[in-house]
Amino acid sequence: MKKNRRCFSFDVYESWIDLPAEEAGLLNKAREAVHTAYAPYSGFKVGAAALLANGAIIMGANQENASFPAGLCAERTVLAMAGAAYPGMAILKLAISYQPSSGAADRPIAPCGICRQSLQEFSQRTGSPILLVLAGMEGKAYIVPDAADLLPLAFTQDAL
Ligand code: THU
Repeated sequence: MKKNRRCFSFDVYESWIDLPAEEAGLLNKAREAVHTAYAPYSGFKVGAAALLANGAIIMGANQENASFPAGLCAERTVLAMAGAAYPGMAILKLAISYQPSSGAADRPIAPCGICRQSLQEFSQRTGSPILLVLAGMEGKAYIVPDAADLLPLAFTQDAL
């Protein structure tokens, strides 16, 4: 028997203003995308913006449904938009921001479990890690160099 250990590092910025220019620009696109959310049930609007390997930027937001599980998170909306617009094109960076119906958006949020699964496969199939930029409308920001690190021991296509 041996023990395996998996750990990862991410960068914490005390203020999003200190982010590198490209990351800050992408974060602002994610904030802009928040306005395209359809979130009448939760009131929690999430925006995402992806930078593709060809330089294109794809923006999207969460799209809810009266049948709650049919709703789509912002991240998966953007993955589907990117995959449909530019088949096979890698996503290099993905920024995620949000605006709740009440209260501050002053800390980063991280992708939910289903989105981690989708990010992992998008990354694997396009052969490129996806760097995440996570921040609210103010306050701290995180940079996670590889979204796949958020889902250790993932169930992948290799298993099928
Ligand atoms: N949501 C996202 O769009 N992304 C996340 O990473 C977490 C949650 C959405 C789903 C739902 O529309 C609302 O936020 C509240 O859960």
